[in-house]
Amino acid sequence: MSVNQQQQIRPVAIVAGASGGIADATARALQQVNIMRRKDQSWVLVTGASSGFGEEFARQYAAQGRPLVLVARRLERLQTLATELRERYRVDVIVEQVDLSAITAVVELRERLRERGITIDVLVNNAGSGLQGPFLDEPLDRTMAMLNLDVVSLTAMTRLFAEDMRARRRGQILLVASLLGYQGVENFAVYAAAKAYVLGLAEALHREFKHDGIVVTALSPGVSDTGFATAANMTITPMLKLMMMQPAPVVRAGIRALQAGRVSVVPGWANKASMFLIRAARWLNHAITSRLMGAGTDRGSAYSASVGVARQ
Ligand SMILES: NC(=O)c1ccc[n+]([C@@H]2O[C@H](COP(=O)([O-])OP(=O)(O)OC[C@H]3O[C@@H](n4cnc5c(N)ncnc54)[C@H](OP(=O)(O)O)[C@@H]3O)[C@@H](O)[C@H]2O)c1
Repeated sequence: MSVNQQQQIRPVAIVAGASGGIADATARALQQVNIMRRKDQSWVLVTGASSGFGEEFARQYAAQGRPLVLVARRLERLQTLATELRERYRVDVIVEQVDLSAITAVVELRERLRERGITIDVLVNNAGSGLQGPFLDEPLDRTMAMLNLDVVSLTAMTRLFAEDMRARRRGQILLVASLLGYQGVENFAVYAAAKAYVLGLAEALHREFKHDGIVVTALSPGVSDTGFATAANMTITPMLKLMMMQPAPVVRAGIRALQAGRVSVVPGWANKASMFLIRAARWLNHAITSRLMGAGTDRGSAYSASVGVARQ
């Protein structure tokens, strides 16, 4: 039995001396009861639950009385959190040590949960990493590993678990994007582009799944006080520290938006203002460019043709 499989939820009963006929049969029957009981529950799966937002998602969902599957690589941290949540909130918590940057691991995770009779009703696609620095200075393998986690694995998790949700005609999926996803950001080129993908995916799936009983919401935090900045090699200046949001209000905003069926949420007033300015600057830029290029006139047609854009 793997370490993962040993992370049991609260046992229903222990069969003393379960070595022979009747005891074995009883143990098997109890296992079935456990599986049936798990099937009746509405599980929340949180990726990246060993720190930062993921840990806070686990706490807030546990406080709502929801059973949890916690996923990340650092097993000890997951186990400590699971023990605390079981004792404090009397909820079932399963720990899964998975490196999500490997796609096969994602497929195996879903299979393992299915075999144990665990149906995921809420998927929090939170695990992610960032890299700060000039595009060409970052080793290629680190950039690719980040894309595997932030884009490929997130897509696979969404694809696999949404399929199960559609069959049951109910589910909620939260995709953790970033404020940086709203624009191209120098020295965060790949990370910002990856988060733009997450935003686009959430928006599209929100519409696509509307009639399948599945809600998809994007949460776009600004810079926050988690392990992220350190892992991304960011320099934490006193100014940056001052601007950081704490994980609790960010996560609360994400859960609320998901439960309200919203397409997207940016937590915090400063972040909201920042997103407004980004959008306003884009709109202004577009308006000025159109004006300069004479949109609607022959000059505009010539410009569109020269950049290969078919005008509607
Ligand atoms: N904090 C911010 O300023 C900020 C702003 C905008 C968006 N975000 C986004 O928020 C999400 C959560 O980040 P955070 O701020 O909470 O940072 P964090 O504290 O560094 O947490 C990242 C989590 O992802 C997990 N993880 C990393 N690589 C993994 C892998 N290969 N397989 C499985 N799990 C992996 C980590 O666990 P293990 O190391 O144990 O695997 C950890 O639990 C990310 O998607 C990030 O892009 C953060």
